[in-house]
Amino acid sequence: EQAPPCVLVLFGARGDLAHRLVMPALYNLRRAGRLGDGFAIVGFDHGDISERSWRRSIGDALRAQAADPATEFEADGIDAGTWRWLSRRMHYLRGDFTRREDYRALAALLEDLAPRYGTGGNTLYYLASAPRFFAPATEALGHAGLVAEGEGRGWKRVIVEKPFGHDLPSARDLNAVVAAQLDESQVFRIDHFLGKETVQNILAFRFANGLFEPVWNRDRIDHVQITAAETIGVEGRGRFYEPTGCLRDMVPNHLFQLLAMIAMEPPAAFTSEAMARRRSEVIEAVRPLTPDEVVRGQYAAGAIARAAVPGYREEDSVAPDSGTETYVAMRLAVDTWRWAGVPFYLRTGKRLRERTTEIAIRFKPAPLAPFRQTAVGGYGPDWLVLHIQPDEGISLQFDVKRPGENVALAPVRMDFRYRDWFPLEHSVGYERLLHDCMCGEAGLFQDAAMVDAAWRIVQPVLESWAAQPPGDFPNYAAGTAGPTAADALLALDGRAWRTLTPGRRPPPH
Ligand code: BG6
Repeated sequence: EQAPPCVLVLFGARGDLAHRLVMPALYNLRRAGRLGDGFAIVGFDHGDISERSWRRSIGDALRAQAADPATEFEADGIDAGTWRWLSRRMHYLRGDFTRREDYRALAALLEDLAPRYGTGGNTLYYLASAPRFFAPATEALGHAGLVAEGEGRGWKRVIVEKPFGHDLPSARDLNAVVAAQLDESQVFRIDHFLGKETVQNILAFRFANGLFEPVWNRDRIDHVQITAAETIGVEGRGRFYEPTGCLRDMVPNHLFQLLAMIAMEPPAAFTSEAMARRRSEVIEAVRPLTPDEVVRGQYAAGAIARAAVPGYREEDSVAPDSGTETYVAMRLAVDTWRWAGVPFYLRTGKRLRERTTEIAIRFKPAPLAPFRQTAVGGYGPDWLVLHIQPDEGISLQFDVKRPGENVALAPVRMDFRYRDWFPLEHSVGYERLLHDCMCGEAGLFQDAAMVDAAWRIVQPVLESWAAQPPGDFPNYAAGTAGPTAADALLALDGRAWRTLTPGRRPPPH
């Protein structure tokens, strides 16, 4: 279905996000026939560059991604017709996000573009700038009258990137600024994990099948592990990452959204609002963390796929004695009837051995285990693993009898892989969310309450870390499984992290 006509104003048009994700997503949307001719983009940024050079730099980024086999973008180069269509409607306006005059220039440009592209005034402002500009830009948009909706003006919506705030008080301040200028229905707080096909599938998997829901609770589930392991480092984003760190970058947003999908109650109606409410309820039920439930780490130099890589402190725009964490692991408690007593362990980090995002659910062992003594390497726990990326799919691990005279057990897996069943769709995860926003569909975005609840959980840790700089950084080498303290955290509970299964090959005979 085609999105309604609109002009998208991209704040931070020269930035990493615009190049790597937002513009590729718009390209993919057009390629898939989901953007019609009533569409234009205004790149808004303080960089003094020409429209031509902005277009060129975006074009180069698209081509570079298409050529890189590691990306999930077009495998076959970029489509000339699609790029011509897109680049022609890319306008660039130099502007300072905090200067009121520059918003007058923006208003004038929008006045001009609306009739040219027949957008009826519909405007989507995408705040993809550095986070410190989210509040001033929202205020300036309000003062310039650029977000007023009404007769003949079309709709006005604002996408706010993450991190939404820096901690609980600043998130509340930002929510207050936003609420002063906009109606909540105009605000779309984005979390691109919610745009991932496999994340959306969690709900279909849970609620479209009768098989799993009866065991989806404290009676049958021992614990849950959520992992987002990356092999990349900070990739030139040191200026953003230094004051942010891994916890703020990944946890109250991406990982909590995965947690919410796994742990939420079934909604009474399958409307996006009802589902968003259910996700929010889970986050509200998570007990605030205590500092001893969280482990932090920072990578030292090491090797990824046999290539030497520098340590975090050697990266650009990073302090040589930086205390910023690039890894976190934690234990969470969800205080609901369904989950009381079931720990959720979360871990995420950069420069780890494997790139894998997965949710692994470990079931309780059989009440009586007559085979336990004979199992090879201990009895195998049953695991259900939702593979979010790469190699998207779902697998169930359980024990069978190893062929032979003796009764010896061996763990095996039943595997569902997306690519075996469905043609691969090229997506960077932002396509669905941008399209939803253009259609006014807010179900896959975060509302003010959700953001507040998420910060509330991590706030005690942020405070404790601010008061107590890490004494042992760097504490893991690039290309390893992370700091050993993360293993100790689970060992305290008599548990261990699941070994990640890249590519999910069966073991050799
Ligand atoms: C972003 C973080 O939000 O998510 C990055 O800022 C991180 O640091 C990225 O690398 C991970 O997203 P994905 O889709 O590559 O798993």
